[in-house]
Amino acid sequence: MKNIGKNSLENAFRLFESNDIGKIEIGTTKGLKEIHHYLFDGLYDFAGEIRTLNSSKGGFRFANALYLNEILVKIEQMPESSFEEIVAKYVEMNIAHPFLEGNGRSMRIWLDMILKNRLNKVVNWQFIDKTLYLQSMERSPINDLELRTLLMQHLTDDVDNREIIFKGIEQSYYYEGYQKDEE
Ligand SMILES: Nc1ncnc2c1ncn2[C@@H]1O[C@H](COP(=O)(O)OP(=O)(O)OP(=O)(O)O)[C@@H](O)[C@H]1O
Ligand SMILES: [Mg+2]
Repeated sequence: MKNIGKNSLENAFRLFESNDIGKIEIGTTKGLKEIHHYLFDGLYDFAGEIRTLNSSKGGFRFANALYLNEILVKIEQMPESSFEEIVAKYVEMNIAHPFLEGNGRSMRIWLDMILKNRLNKVVNWQFIDKTLYLQSMERSPINDLELRTLLMQHLTDDVDNREIIFKGIEQSYYYEGYQKDEE
């Protein structure tokens, strides 16, 4: 069996190591699909593809597949000029949840690209507790204050620091459940 978590983590590292990240469109659906494709190519047959099935998590239903493409057009047009606007856009993209699996991991990279581009900051994910993060994401469709506060506390302007980037990717994969020492 393919170890999807491990292989995808290696793809995520390679996305930054190779500087391919610089070729990806920022803040758009196309860019998010490119990230997803990069992380999951050869691992999921739907890598980079918008889902056509409905999806839910913890009792929350993500956007209905019937309207998903129209919703994604609206979301990519959302403004990104302040931290609040960028978080609001991230929350809406999470509610859309365009892929069958791998949304969280793709979207955290997508969020960092917007923050870096617009505010010259990134999230220092290594310091963001898994439980607090997941709780704030679950809460975010109703109120994004918790998420905003959590992310705000861990913004850094050390945006090209490789250790911050790579530790952040590891943490992002740990949220999903994959840990490096698992075989
Ligand atoms: N109940 C919920 N309501 C809204 N969003 C949620 C809920 N539970 C989880 N999420 C968000 O969805 C993400 C999980 O989606 P999905 O399983 O597609 O992504 P993943 O990359 O496979 O996993 P993960 O995001 O955990 O790394 C979580 O990271 C979180 O951001
Ligand atoms: Mg998942």
